[in-house]
Amino acid sequence: MTDATFARWTTRVEAALDKALPSPDDSPRRLHGAMRHGVLNGGKRMRPLLVYATGTALGVADAELDAAAAAVELMHCYSLVHDDLPAMDDDVLRRGQPTVHVAYDEATAILAGDALQSLAFEALAAAPQPAERRIGMLAELARAAGVAGMCGGQALDIDATGGTCGPDGWSHAKDHADPLLHLERLHALKTGALLRCAVRLGAIAGGADAASHAALDRYADALGLAFQIKDDLLDIEGDAATLGKTAGKDVAQHKATFPALLGADASRQRLAELSATMQAALQELRADSRALTALACRVVERTH
Ligand code: IPE
Ligand code: IPE
Ligand code: MG
Ligand code: MG
Ligand code: MG
Repeated sequence: MTDATFARWTTRVEAALDKALPSPDDSPRRLHGAMRHGVLNGGKRMRPLLVYATGTALGVADAELDAAAAAVELMHCYSLVHDDLPAMDDDVLRRGQPTVHVAYDEATAILAGDALQSLAFEALAAAPQPAERRIGMLAELARAAGVAGMCGGQALDIDATGGTCGPDGWSHAKDHADPLLHLERLHALKTGALLRCAVRLGAIAGGADAASHAALDRYADALGLAFQIKDDLLDIEGDAATLGKTAGKDVAQHKATFPALLGADASRQRLAELSATMQAALQELRADSRALTALACRVVERTH
C-alpha cells in the first residue's frame, strides 16, 4: 500500500515540477534546458514525499500539497547543481547522468541553480493555503536554504574539506572542542535543514498544533542526520552504477564525514539509534504516521 502511495506522490510532484519549469523551446533555451536537466533527471524525491506524508498524517489532501512538494524539491535540486560545481565538490555524475555544468557549462549551471531557487519561492507563493500559512511556509523555506540552513552547512563543509580526518577530529576543525558535535551541526545544516523544512511545510499546511510540531521536529531532526550519515556510508560502500554519482569522493577529497570521524561500524550504530529516535517521535504524534514510518525506514535502508 505504501509503495503505491509513494509512486502516486512521485507522479504528482513530477507533474508539478514539469509544469513549473520553463519550456525548453522558449528563450533562453540553454538556461531552460539546464534547469530541466537539473530537476527532471530522476532523484528519490525524498523531500516531496516527506511533505505529502506529513500533510497526509494531518488530513491534508494531496492536491493541497503539490506546490510545497515541488518547491522544496526545486530548492534541493538547486543545491545539488551548485554542490557539483568545480568550485565545490567538482562532481561529473548526478542521478546517473552528467552533472549540469558538464552537460552544459559552468556559467549556465550557476544561473540554473540561481533560477531554480527563485522558482522554488515562486511555486510556494502560489500554494493554495491561506495567506498566513503560506507566509509561514515561505519563511521556513527561506530559513532552511540560507545561512542558518543549507548554505551555512555547505560553508562549514567547505571549511572542513581537504584536511585529515580521524579519531582525533579533522585537522581543519582544531578550533572545535568537540569535532563530533561540529560534524553533527554541519550535517544538520547542509542536509537536515531542508529535510526538516519539508516536514514543516506539510505540518503548517495541516495546521499542526504545538505538540505535533514538536514531535515532527524531533522526527525530522533525526531523519536529517540519519540521511546524511547514510549518504556518507554509501559514498564508501556503494558503486557509481547504483548510486548514480561517483563513489569514493569523500575520502578522495578529505571530506569531514561520519565514517571518516567515527568509522563505518560506529556510523551504522548511530544510524540505528536515530531510527529508534524517529520511531519514538512518531509514537508521540497522534496521527496516522504510516507513511512517515516507511520513509524513516527508506532513509536508513536505501542503497542510493
Ligand atoms: C543528495 O540528496 C544530497 C544530500 C543532501 C545528501 P539525495 O540523496 O536526496 O539526492 P536525490 O534527490 O535522490 O538525487
Ligand atoms: C550535499 O552533501 C548537501 C547539499 C547541500 C547538496 P554531499 O556533497 O555529501 O551530497 P552528494 O554526496 O554530492 O550528493
Ligand atoms: Mg557537498
Ligand atoms: Mg557533493
Ligand atoms: Mg555525499
